[in-house]
Amino acid sequence: MARRQFPADFLWGVAAASYQVEGAAREDGRGESIWDTFSRKPGAVLHGHTGDVSVDQYHRYEEDAGLMKDLGVGSYRFSLAWPRLQPTGSGSFNSRGFDYYKRLCDSLHQRGISAAATLYHWDLPQPLEDAGGWPHRDTACRFAEYAEACFTELGNHVDLWITLNEPWCSAVLGYHEGVHAPGRRDLSAAWAASHHLLLGHGLALQAYREQGGRSEQPIGITLNIDTPRPATQDSRDVLAADRAMDLRTRMYFDPLFGKGYPERHFEAYPGETRPEVRAGDLEIIAGKIDFLGLNYYFEPVMAFDPDHPEGFRVAPDYHETTAMGWPVTPRGLYRQLTWVARETRGQCPLYITENGCAMEDSLSDDGLRCRDPRRIQYLRDHFSAALDAIEEGVDLRGYFVWSLIDNFEWALGYTKRFGIIYADYINQRRVPKDSFYYLREVISQSEDF
Ligand code: FCB
Repeated sequence: MARRQFPADFLWGVAAASYQVEGAAREDGRGESIWDTFSRKPGAVLHGHTGDVSVDQYHRYEEDAGLMKDLGVGSYRFSLAWPRLQPTGSGSFNSRGFDYYKRLCDSLHQRGISAAATLYHWDLPQPLEDAGGWPHRDTACRFAEYAEACFTELGNHVDLWITLNEPWCSAVLGYHEGVHAPGRRDLSAAWAASHHLLLGHGLALQAYREQGGRSEQPIGITLNIDTPRPATQDSRDVLAADRAMDLRTRMYFDPLFGKGYPERHFEAYPGETRPEVRAGDLEIIAGKIDFLGLNYYFEPVMAFDPDHPEGFRVAPDYHETTAMGWPVTPRGLYRQLTWVARETRGQCPLYITENGCAMEDSLSDDGLRCRDPRRIQYLRDHFSAALDAIEEGVDLRGYFVWSLIDNFEWALGYTKRFGIIYADYINQRRVPKDSFYYLREVISQSEDF
């Protein structure tokens, strides 16, 4: 049988995000973000962990770029910390912040690694939250202004732009469920936040296109859509799985692709206030993106629930689970990729901008190895599912593994390890896990699928 291989120009990468890896929280003029505040709220983050130091990539980016070179990846997906670049979220910019990202990009480029920068991976400047945060329309305008400055300053350094990472998390986890910064619990506020996040994305896109010459690099957005499967083929379960897609998938996917918001979702909560969508907003949001980024971790399973306003509940799943308690569902990745390709009629190139898993990793007694066979299996099965989709014609251009290195996993602090490099948080030593060597073989095409 012929060996199955990824296309020769397939882009392999690893991903991380500013607040999760940089540390240096008070250096070189960085302002405060909502995560600095939230992580100090008693009980908000497990063990009171914060991103103050993390794996100190702000000082150790050269070492990390060297590890990426050894891994053989073509790209590093990182995020720009808005409060480093514009400490109060409006007004003056901080050149020392831009210098840091220029140094980071240079050190990647020297090693033949491209720079994929996310403009917003959840670290909103605190003063903007004090003024109302994402539920406040002005935040979208502030974001566009910040994005424009990034395009101008870093246009010659960044090779691929991502406006937002997972706006669902910013809106719903941050403003409705209250488990992420800023920790509010108000569904109407989350809806308003969703709309303003998307508006900010659209305005940033406009600013990018208007720049002309400097905007030749691809620009897109990263979503964590859910494409759940029904618990059974009973029509009520099938409908439940479909309705479960409104809040997490259609609220983002549909407006981005010119289909407006899923009215059915708003109608299910008559006591709440719909987001204020002004004339022209939806056109701005539906501006053409060059690609869609997908962060995929698992496929949930949904069943009918007559007591839920939208008629669904998460049903039991039989798959093994990761350290996050998330089921391992590689076929779900195949189903999601083919769903997106169908919905976009194959017209939108795709990247997997995050995929990976947290496992119970530990160092060997001599401290030199970290054996993580379950992560290798997880990655192999997901790579294989992605390859199935590519072979069926899905326009998947690249794959970023989450994460380069263990890091601050938001409300779970440092208790969950997603890295393919083990971080020793005591002495900042980095130890490539076995999955690092596995990925290296995949990238160099010496692995079979
Ligand atoms: C995603 C986030 C990323 C990381 C992974 C595990 O939702 O984008 O920062 O925390 O989950």
